[in-house]
Amino acid sequence: MKIYRVKTYKEMCDKISEEFVNDIIENPSSVLGLATGSTALGIYENLINKHKQENLDFSFVKTVNLDEYIGLSNDNDQSYRYYMDNNFFNHINVKKENTFIPNGLAKDLKKECDAYDELIQKLNGIDIQLLGIGHNGHIGFNEPNNSFKKDTHVVDLHKETIEANSRFFSSIEETPTTAITLGIKNIIQAKKVILAGGEDKKEIIEKAIFGDITPEVPASILQLHENLIVVMVD
Ligand code: F6R
Repeated sequence: MKIYRVKTYKEMCDKISEEFVNDIIENPSSVLGLATGSTALGIYENLINKHKQENLDFSFVKTVNLDEYIGLSNDNDQSYRYYMDNNFFNHINVKKENTFIPNGLAKDLKKECDAYDELIQKLNGIDIQLLGIGHNGHIGFNEPNNSFKKDTHVVDLHKETIEANSRFFSSIEETPTTAITLGIKNIIQAKKVILAGGEDKKEIIEKAIFGDITPEVPASILQLHENLIVVMVD
């Protein structure tokens, strides 16, 4: 595990986007595992700038997102598809058909989850996975639990996650309570994992990477990953 303790959110984003840029240059067909949320925004901004100013090429890249709310359409401005298109994909030259996000409107959600697992296998796994972390230690939407869920699955979001997410909705009642998320096995099988957290995540990151490995703190499983990079504001 490599840990970078940086002073500012900007430094965190610079360090992480540098990792992505180097990997994409080295392997232009990289499979990028991507996250939404506030933490990732500055990273996407940096990568867009690299594309616009230095022609960083995304045309062979494939992307796999961690999660999506159930019940929101792609044009709902709170769906993760909308977030990814507007904050990243629309500003780079990735092919839209190579950007994958679970379909939260699928009629058969179990089938959708299984198909997502198969897709990741078909892509030969994720090369570099970006992760934010919830204050409760969730990664993707793998919430604290009594066991690690391995594969892509439907999850009931915990009260604190719904409350945290409600800042983006007009009321808590409108905030989705369920989501599809990659499982822990999908995440841990990525060839490289980058865990990012701003100042407010310092405590939970330290608990996750130095505490016991337990499904009560889902991110703690990352301690077992051979190529984990933690970038945190300290
Ligand atoms: C988002 C995701 C979540 C977030 C986490 C942190 O796709 O999977 O695990 O990364 O909730 O969110 P922010 O960055 O908004 O604090």
